Amino acid sequence: MPLKRRITIAFTILAVAFVTGLTAMYMARNDGLTRAGSGTALVGGPFEMTDQDGRRVTEKDFLGRYMLVFFGFTYCPDVCPSELQVMSAALDEMGADADPIQPVFVSIDPARDTPAVVKEYVGNFHPRMKGLTGSEADVAKIASAYRVYYAKQQSKAGSSDYLMDHSAILYLMGPDGKFVKHFSYGTDVKALALGLRDALRK
Ligand code: NI
Repeated sequence: MPLKRRITIAFTILAVAFVTGLTAMYMARNDGLTRAGSGTALVGGPFEMTDQDGRRVTEKDFLGRYMLVFFGFTYCPDVCPSELQVMSAALDEMGADADPIQPVFVSIDPARDTPAVVKEYVGNFHPRMKGLTGSEADVAKIASAYRVYYAKQQSKAGSSDYLMDHSAILYLMGPDGKFVKHFSYGTDVKALALGLRDALRK
């Protein structure tokens, strides 16, 4: 076998092993979200943020309704806009059945995502979507409560632009503020609407 081909095969095997490992890690982590030893979910908890109108809000302001929450940033080129579109389309597809659900976007880039920026952004996706931002400390606290990873990417030399790495999971929280279920990135509109209907029936 030519050396080039052998190298290609070796790399393919390595790549497959790597992706398999990542998938296993990801599944183990998500399993952990729903199956904490005690039966208590690890996602959620107290937070204090600033909403798109500049008001300070806490988790108590969301009690009594389901909260469908996604963490991201308004400068995100692809993941956030596509996920928020799916989220909005699923809610639209559910019609009045989606009324008990409050869609929420939480910024993990508060340096650029001011309440005004967030307000304009969420308005592009759904008329009922709320946007939350805050100080670096506010964001660190809510991200930690929701087990959301985020980090600033190294920007190119001489550029003030930057991107953020972040988890892309949708969380459904119950009217009692407790974790109900999560939806992985890539869940399509139909599956999301179905999953939400299913959760609301229980
Ligand atoms: Ni994003």
